Amino acid sequence: MSAEARSRKSEAGKEWQKLADAIRHHDRLYYQKDAPEISDAEYDALRRRLEELEREFPELQTQDSPTQTVGAPPLETFAKVRHTIPMLSLNNAMSEEEVREWLERIRRFLGLGENEAVPVVTELKIDGLSFSARYEHGRFVQGATRGDGEVGEDITRNLATILPLTLKSHPPEILEVRGEVYMTHEEFAALNARRVAENEPVFANPRNAAAGSLRQLDAEITRSRRLRYFIYGWGEVSASLGGCQSDYIDAFKRFGLQTIAVYLHNMFSIEVAVHAPLAGMMDLYRRVEARRPQLDFDIDGLVYKVNSLDWQRRLGEVGRAPRWAIAHKFPPQQAFTVVEGIDIQVGRTGALTPVARLKPITVGGVVVSNATLHNEDEIKRKDIRVGDTVVVQRAGDVIPQIVSADLHKRPPHSRPYHFPDHCPVCGSLAVREEDEAVRRCTGGLLCEAQLVERLRHFVGRDAMDIEGLGEKQITAFWQDGLIKDVVDIYHLPQKAHLIESREGWGKKSVENLMAAIERSRDVKLAKFIYALGIRHVGEVTAKTLARHYRSYGAWMSAMEQLPGGGEALTELDNIGGIGLKVAEAIADFFREPHNVKIVHALAGQLRIQDAESVAQGSPVSGRTVVFTGTLVKLTRSEAKARAESLGAHVASSVSSKTDYVIAGEDAGSKLKKAKELGVRILTEQEWLELIA
Ligand code: IVH
Repeated sequence: MSAEARSRKSEAGKEWQKLADAIRHHDRLYYQKDAPEISDAEYDALRRRLEELEREFPELQTQDSPTQTVGAPPLETFAKVRHTIPMLSLNNAMSEEEVREWLERIRRFLGLGENEAVPVVTELKIDGLSFSARYEHGRFVQGATRGDGEVGEDITRNLATILPLTLKSHPPEILEVRGEVYMTHEEFAALNARRVAENEPVFANPRNAAAGSLRQLDAEITRSRRLRYFIYGWGEVSASLGGCQSDYIDAFKRFGLQTIAVYLHNMFSIEVAVHAPLAGMMDLYRRVEARRPQLDFDIDGLVYKVNSLDWQRRLGEVGRAPRWAIAHKFPPQQAFTVVEGIDIQVGRTGALTPVARLKPITVGGVVVSNATLHNEDEIKRKDIRVGDTVVVQRAGDVIPQIVSADLHKRPPHSRPYHFPDHCPVCGSLAVREEDEAVRRCTGGLLCEAQLVERLRHFVGRDAMDIEGLGEKQITAFWQDGLIKDVVDIYHLPQKAHLIESREGWGKKSVENLMAAIERSRDVKLAKFIYALGIRHVGEVTAKTLARHYRSYGAWMSAMEQLPGGGEALTELDNIGGIGLKVAEAIADFFREPHNVKIVHALAGQLRIQDAESVAQGSPVSGRTVVFTGTLVKLTRSEAKARAESLGAHVASSVSSKTDYVIAGEDAGSKLKKAKELGVRILTEQEWLELIA
């Protein structure tokens, strides 16, 4: 293999891994959490790229590659059901050309002549949640979700509120039907309106609402959501129902099941659409697409299936999808509207997200009045301005997006959008780190948008460890004004009577909470630093800081000098394990006077213990050391950790304050500098002897 081919292969391997990880991550969000983060189109693009890579480098394909599996494993809360026949997924075609290629492949596979027709049944592809339902002797006995295609969740009780419990017209002894459960736009809007009124989070789209409603441990909730279903296929069937896909659909209708044919019948008076050749399929595709905005449910394309079951058997499947069927997707739905303003939302972690306020417009049957602009760069890249006429896209899922601005309609004197560098909620500086797309508010302890998250972190087990104050209690206390910032937690004992009269609280639980608050007043410096929730300061960094500065007083006085830069910042940056990025995040935090004020106020409420003095008597305690070059007996991090546990400060650069430079093999500029400054230089062996 040439060097070039090797390098391409290694690049492909890396890309494959990245894609596979991303797809699995999005599968989990979509199938288990009902909360996708990317649009179907973006997801499909990831899958396609993965398939492309595997075609080019077949050795990359593993058995558990996302191309070989469907969806994500089921949740733990429902019993598992193994499908007697796996539930497959569909490959997608995005254009007429790809549908043509699909038909060509079928023709080649079956050895048909060029002019021989391939009769195809056309169905709608409704965007919902697939299920399998088993009937025995005409009675509904079991229902399952698709899960990973092999094993799904047992949702018998839920499906029983949607499907007929008995079938008509002498169905076969065993009949497993497969279909899709979905929610109409009308029901979706009503459900979300109820949720708003009840202060519950709304569903992002009808599909998520259907999924969330179907997978309810309490089936009565499912019943109240008025879901619909249709049947598009089957699994185990004990007696043949005919030789064609369309025969089965007809039979299901006779048994009293809702089939996909109903929709085409209502829309175009077509009973079962069997087409050949392509022109007929494309004609229906365009007619359905034109009607799409008027439909009361989401569809994301058509599904074409080879009608002959004999041919279906011969064609079989490849990977997770049949060769005999394909989904012809619609492009995402778009509409024009005007950007009336750009609002900045501040998330729980302080991220500033721009959201375009739009003149309300209907896109695919759903009224859209907001669209995410993702981040600062995205606005710049698309040059979206207030007053612009823009193309809004709804990809049947997630939050609507802005595709582009129509420059011809741009009002005169419009100006590029200027992204704020202060938090719109609390007014603190909002900073953007290098290599980060997101700008974040630095007013952590004061910013209302982040407060609940900060409070939750503050009281957490690894931080101040206040038992009895969970997210629920914190949110409730905050909403009712009992706590407005972290310091208020220590004023709760004066308000104990107010808490006791609240629902869910009693004398005992209030006493317990007060005791937990009292206990938390004795806190180690490291825990206290960690509890502040400074960006990039996790438990390990907090410990490092505590060890370095030893006492709250020493630490805080150094921190207050940080915003001025200079010595304090250099010292911080020189502590082993603290990089510039972390040092700057800490400096940003202390640059906000409100944060400083709150830290002081907190300290007034607490007894902050000095960090354990590490190995006072060790020969390197209190010394600053720098490791350089390749160490042979220790890894760099081991060496650092050992030195720190003996009380040394490990710095990353050599200065006149450095006590020892430990030079490994191939030491370079740091060694040179140490020589220039007359710093003591030790070999690795000498160092080991010194600390032995
Ligand atoms: S047939 C072996 N037909 O789309 C064939 N699926 O993207 C398997 N879907 O898992 C599926 N409408 O949840 C088929 N008319 C239709 C469909 C349909 C919606 C869903 C189904 C499937 C997914 C694949």
